[in-house]
Amino acid sequence: MATKRFMTLPRHIMEGEKLHPEATGELSAILLQLSLAAKLISLEVNKAGLVEILGFTGDENVHGEKVKKLDIYAHEMLIKAMDHGGYFCVMASEEEEDIIHLPPHHKIGKYVLLFDPLDGSSNIDANISIGTIFSIYKRISPGNGPGTLQDCLQPGFQQVVAGYVVYGSSTMLVYTSGHGHGVHGFTLDPAFGEFLLSHDDIKIPNQGRIYSLNEGNYFTWPLGLKNYIKYLQSNLFDGKPYQARYVGSMVADIHRTLLYGGIFIYPGDKRNPKGKLRLMYECNPMAFIMEEAGGRATDGKKRILEIQPTGLHERTPVFIGSMKDVLLVEKYLREGQDRY
Ligand code: AHG
Ligand code: MN
Ligand code: MN
Repeated sequence: MATKRFMTLPRHIMEGEKLHPEATGELSAILLQLSLAAKLISLEVNKAGLVEILGFTGDENVHGEKVKKLDIYAHEMLIKAMDHGGYFCVMASEEEEDIIHLPPHHKIGKYVLLFDPLDGSSNIDANISIGTIFSIYKRISPGNGPGTLQDCLQPGFQQVVAGYVVYGSSTMLVYTSGHGHGVHGFTLDPAFGEFLLSHDDIKIPNQGRIYSLNEGNYFTWPLGLKNYIKYLQSNLFDGKPYQARYVGSMVADIHRTLLYGGIFIYPGDKRNPKGKLRLMYECNPMAFIMEEAGGRATDGKKRILEIQPTGLHERTPVFIGSMKDVLLVEKYLREGQDRY
């Protein structure tokens, strides 16, 4: 899957544009702007620990600037990077209760941007991989004025672009424009600050050997899920049971699942029937990517991408990864008949 061609993100996008005459060039510009924001956030992520160690005051650093919590920093960085290109009519962020309108004097565009500026925040201080997730739609409300909540509450199959950035041992940007155009991964070369194509046309294995979920919640799981996990642990696959891996940052767990295969699960349970992960800026973009890579993503019954959203921050159970693994957990959940 790793590719040798020296292909930068801008060149890859331009070449992609030639293949799709309907492309207006705006999506290319959006992706490039997002990659700029990713570089700036990556810089901050990589020195976050330093800030802690050097003990800059919680409120001000040596330059007299406010030292912001990383997820607020990432939130503001993304808005600053994306609010002036004339691409969007409205935005929405995990960090903002309501939709985000563009500043009044800015040109209004025809796209909608939803994002989780910093995913895995609880892992920041332990220097564990975290990420950013983004999801782009075309506006559906009439006219050319500011976008509306209706523009932000579209089912996931309407996405035009979805992607994530994982700030790990290296910084990688992974995106897809769907419709058979493939999923492509770019690794940031810090030497000259370019994202280079490192994973061309990523396809997830049809079955994996890794399952990923927070087993601390075992006693609140539905019966079918308990039986499924017991099956993975008590049977041999190529001579050994499935392995458990759980980072606790969705972006990191999904990235590993995409590359190695297997299944990531954040289920609904007795306490939270809808689970924890947000439909609009976590599950929908990841489902769009996973299906484009040949995988599957459901809420245990229904495709994530077909859920009609009713709220900007609504949550959904999510079972996502290799086709065979997700189909099998759905079978166990059916047999469990929603019993606990
Ligand atoms: P965020 O930091 O954006 O709130 O997301 C955290 C999410 C997700 O990244 C991860 O999969 C999940 O929280 C982990 O939750 P648990 O700690 O409950 O397992
Ligand atoms: Mn998140
Ligand atoms: Mn977040």
